[in-house]
Amino acid sequence: MLKDLFIGLSKNQFLNSAAKKYGLKLGAQSVVAGTNIEEAINSIKELNAHGISCTVDNLGEFVNKKEDATAAKEQIIAVVEAIHESNVDAHISLKPSQLGLDIDYSFCLDNLKEIVGKAYEYGIFINFDMEDHARLQPSFDLLDELSKEYDNIGTVIQAYFYRAAEDIEKYKNYRLRIVKGAYKEPADVAYISKEEIDKNYIKLIEYHLLNGKFTSIATHDHNVINHVKRFVKQHDIPNEKFEFQMLYGFRKEMQFELAKEGYNFTTYIPFGDDWYGYYMRRLAERPQNLNLVVKQVFNK
Ligand code: FDA
Repeated sequence: MLKDLFIGLSKNQFLNSAAKKYGLKLGAQSVVAGTNIEEAINSIKELNAHGISCTVDNLGEFVNKKEDATAAKEQIIAVVEAIHESNVDAHISLKPSQLGLDIDYSFCLDNLKEIVGKAYEYGIFINFDMEDHARLQPSFDLLDELSKEYDNIGTVIQAYFYRAAEDIEKYKNYRLRIVKGAYKEPADVAYISKEEIDKNYIKLIEYHLLNGKFTSIATHDHNVINHVKRFVKQHDIPNEKFEFQMLYGFRKEMQFELAKEGYNFTTYIPFGDDWYGYYMRRLAERPQNLNLVVKQVFNK
């Protein structure tokens, strides 16, 4: 019930634009690394000092005006420049819908080409985050198209989709982030129960660890992390073939601990004034995060 409520709130356009005006509120500052590039770069530097790499998400999604998509493209290129200039250990995560996928496919492709081309010059990797089912195939199409020219790109496989095993086979030569899946999907395309999603998640991770190029295991689930630790040991999979990823502000101690143990680790750094939808989805996944909200509201 709470999950549905927060997913519903995440899509509310009015609240989205109000949130942009008022800056980070409602406890969002504990999981969003600031509203501008300087703040994001500072957070990256701090994590790099602990041996943690970062993937930077200039927040924004469900854009339906060309000027907003163009502005998002320019902001992301500015982030690419900032990563290069400050020489931090970081790459980019972006969402195709932020760059105009819902407006016009070719317009979105052109925007992505500019970003991926600039990042390619600097040797910076670009990850295409995956959104809901309606945007899944078009996002893979964009990846296919750009792969004809560039190899600094990869994407996400969401384990709740029935088609995920086929996708992982097709994209096994890519650097892939494997996640459980964050959107509300119907039973004709996705597993609904936690047990089935978790089972498929482990199956996909194992497959890609054994057959894939590079695996980013993006989860806060200690059971999955402990399983992966045992699995790589049993199969002699070297640390260079995989990493763990978590979101900024979540299970911080565990993030530092995994990096200290010698595992590659990447923290997902969301920043920017379009923080509202991202934050509501995090509350949907884990209503306990509401505690953060309550603390922020009362500890002024
Ligand atoms: P899940 O929420 O299933 O929790 C499992 C168990 O882990 C819990 O029962 C609890 O015991 C423990 N746990 C979880 N969080 C905890 C916490 N904060 N503190 C203490 N214990 C905790 N999704 C998507 O659809 N597209 C995408 O592109 C991405 N990208 C992405 C990048 C990164 C870096 C991450 C970490 C996640 C994503 N996701 C995503 C989101 C992903 O699909 C998923 O919704 C969330 O990660 C929640 O699932 P988990 O696997 O983290 O554990």
